[in-house]
Amino acid sequence: MTHHVPGDAELMAAAMEAAQRAYAPYSRFQVGAVVVTEDGSVVSGANVENAAYASTLCAEAVAIGAAVAAGARNLVTVAVACLSGERCYPCGQCRQRMREFGVERVIVRDGAGGTRSHSLEELLPEAFGPEDLARG
Ligand code: THU
Repeated sequence: MTHHVPGDAELMAAAMEAAQRAYAPYSRFQVGAVVVTEDGSVVSGANVENAAYASTLCAEAVAIGAAVAAGARNLVTVAVACLSGERCYPCGQCRQRMREFGVERVIVRDGAGGTRSHSLEELLPEAFGPEDLARG
Protein backbone atom coordinates (compact mmCIF):
# COMPACT_ATOMS: atom_id res chain seq x y z
CA MET A 1 0.00 0.00 0.00
CA THR A 2 1.34 3.41 -0.86
CA HIS A 3 1.29 6.00 1.86
CA HIS A 4 -0.36 9.29 0.92
CA VAL A 5 1.83 12.21 1.95
CA PRO A 6 -0.38 15.28 2.44
CA GLY A 7 0.86 18.57 0.99
CA ASP A 8 0.82 21.90 2.83
CA ALA A 9 -2.54 22.95 1.34
CA GLU A 10 -4.14 19.70 2.39
CA LEU A 11 -2.78 20.00 5.93
CA MET A 12 -4.09 23.56 6.11
CA ALA A 13 -7.53 22.39 4.97
CA ALA A 14 -7.49 19.80 7.77
CA ALA A 15 -6.47 22.48 10.29
CA MET A 16 -9.36 24.68 9.12
CA GLU A 17 -11.74 21.79 9.58
CA ALA A 18 -10.41 21.23 13.10
CA ALA A 19 -10.86 24.95 13.87
CA GLN A 20 -14.59 24.51 13.33
CA ARG A 21 -14.62 22.19 16.34
CA ALA A 22 -12.95 24.71 18.66
CA TYR A 23 -14.58 25.49 21.99
CA ALA A 24 -13.99 29.22 22.14
CA PRO A 25 -17.05 30.90 23.68
CA TYR A 26 -14.95 33.59 25.43
CA SER A 27 -12.57 34.84 22.77
CA ARG A 28 -14.63 33.65 19.79
CA PHE A 29 -11.23 33.04 18.23
CA GLN A 30 -11.32 29.53 16.82
CA VAL A 31 -8.03 27.83 16.05
CA GLY A 32 -7.27 24.43 14.56
CA ALA A 33 -4.02 22.52 14.29
CA VAL A 34 -2.82 19.29 12.77
CA VAL A 35 0.32 17.39 13.62
CA VAL A 36 2.04 14.99 11.22
CA THR A 37 3.94 12.26 13.05
CA GLU A 38 7.07 10.55 11.74
CA ASP A 39 5.01 7.54 10.64
CA GLY A 40 2.70 9.79 8.62
CA SER A 41 -0.30 9.90 10.94
CA VAL A 42 -2.21 13.17 10.98
CA VAL A 43 -3.67 14.16 14.36
CA SER A 44 -5.88 17.22 14.81
CA GLY A 45 -6.72 19.55 17.69
CA ALA A 46 -8.66 22.75 18.37
CA ASN A 47 -8.48 25.30 21.14
CA VAL A 48 -10.47 24.44 24.24
CA GLU A 49 -11.25 27.46 26.40
CA ASN A 50 -12.32 27.61 30.02
CA ALA A 51 -14.34 30.00 32.19
CA ALA A 52 -11.17 30.18 34.27
CA TYR A 53 -9.41 31.79 31.30
CA ALA A 54 -5.89 30.68 32.18
CA SER A 55 -6.99 27.05 31.92
CA THR A 56 -7.47 27.43 28.16
CA LEU A 57 -5.65 25.01 25.89
CA CYS A 58 -4.28 26.09 22.51
CA ALA A 59 -5.15 24.09 19.40
CA GLU A 60 -1.50 23.13 18.97
CA ALA A 61 -1.24 21.90 22.56
CA VAL A 62 -4.33 19.74 22.10
CA ALA A 63 -3.07 18.27 18.79
CA ILE A 64 0.43 17.61 20.16
CA GLY A 65 -1.02 16.08 23.33
CA ALA A 66 -3.35 13.82 21.33
CA ALA A 67 -0.51 12.64 19.07
CA VAL A 68 1.78 11.92 22.01
CA ALA A 69 -1.00 10.19 23.95
CA ALA A 70 -1.57 7.99 20.88
CA GLY A 71 2.05 6.87 21.13
CA ALA A 72 3.94 9.28 18.87
CA ARG A 73 7.27 10.69 20.07
CA ASN A 74 8.67 12.23 16.91
CA LEU A 75 6.60 14.89 15.19
CA VAL A 76 7.51 16.34 11.82
CA THR A 77 5.09 19.08 10.78
CA VAL A 78 2.43 21.22 12.44
CA ALA A 79 -0.16 23.25 10.48
CA VAL A 80 -2.11 26.01 12.27
CA ALA A 81 -5.24 27.81 11.09
CA CYS A 82 -7.51 30.47 12.55
CA LEU A 83 -11.08 30.09 11.39
CA SER A 84 -11.26 33.84 10.83
CA GLY A 85 -8.77 33.37 7.99
CA GLU A 86 -6.22 35.76 9.42
CA ARG A 87 -2.56 34.99 9.56
CA CYS A 88 -1.90 33.29 12.85
CA TYR A 89 1.31 31.97 14.27
CA PRO A 90 1.74 29.62 17.22
CA CYS A 91 2.31 31.17 20.63
CA GLY A 92 5.63 30.89 22.39
CA GLN A 93 4.59 28.08 24.69
CA CYS A 94 3.34 26.00 21.77
CA ARG A 95 6.62 26.57 19.89
CA GLN A 96 8.35 25.10 22.93
CA ARG A 97 5.92 22.14 22.92
CA MET A 98 6.84 21.55 19.28
CA ARG A 99 10.52 21.69 20.17
CA GLU A 100 10.10 18.86 22.68
CA PHE A 101 9.00 16.40 20.00
CA GLY A 102 11.31 17.46 17.18
CA VAL A 103 8.86 19.32 14.94
CA GLU A 104 10.76 20.52 11.88
CA ARG A 105 8.24 22.60 9.93
CA VAL A 106 5.34 24.87 10.82
CA ILE A 107 2.74 25.70 8.17
CA VAL A 108 0.61 28.84 8.56
CA ARG A 109 -1.71 30.77 6.27
CA ASP A 110 -0.20 33.64 4.32
CA GLY A 111 -3.25 35.94 4.44
CA ALA A 112 -3.80 35.63 0.67
CA GLY A 113 -5.35 32.20 0.52
CA GLY A 114 -2.06 30.35 0.44
CA THR A 115 0.29 28.85 2.99
CA ARG A 116 3.73 29.69 4.33
CA SER A 117 6.19 27.19 5.66
CA HIS A 118 8.72 27.97 8.37
CA SER A 119 11.34 25.85 10.05
CA LEU A 120 10.82 25.59 13.80
CA GLU A 121 14.38 26.87 14.12
CA GLU A 122 13.23 30.12 12.48
CA LEU A 123 10.33 30.50 14.92
CA LEU A 124 12.23 29.38 18.03
CA PRO A 125 15.97 29.86 17.53
CA GLU A 126 18.52 28.49 19.99
CA ALA A 127 15.78 26.70 21.88
CA PHE A 128 16.15 24.75 25.07
CA GLY A 129 15.30 21.10 24.52
CA PRO A 130 15.44 17.57 25.92
CA GLU A 131 19.14 17.18 24.95
CA ASP A 132 20.06 20.04 27.26
CA LEU A 133 18.82 18.11 30.28
CA ALA A 134 20.61 14.94 29.19
CA ARG A 135 24.02 16.69 29.26
CA GLY A 136 26.54 15.94 31.97
N1 THU B 1 -4.88 30.14 20.47
C1 THU B 1 -4.54 28.94 19.93
O1 THU B 1 -5.29 27.96 20.05
N2 THU B 1 -3.36 28.84 19.26
C2 THU B 1 -2.52 29.88 19.01
O2 THU B 1 -1.50 29.69 18.38
C3 THU B 1 -2.86 31.23 19.48
C4 THU B 1 -4.02 31.30 20.43
C5 THU B 1 -6.17 30.27 21.16
C6 THU B 1 -6.12 30.37 22.63
C7 THU B 1 -7.41 31.08 22.94
O3 THU B 1 -8.47 30.14 23.03
C8 THU B 1 -7.66 31.95 21.72
O4 THU B 1 -6.83 31.44 20.71
C9 THU B 1 -7.35 33.42 21.93
O5 THU B 1 -6.09 33.57 22.47
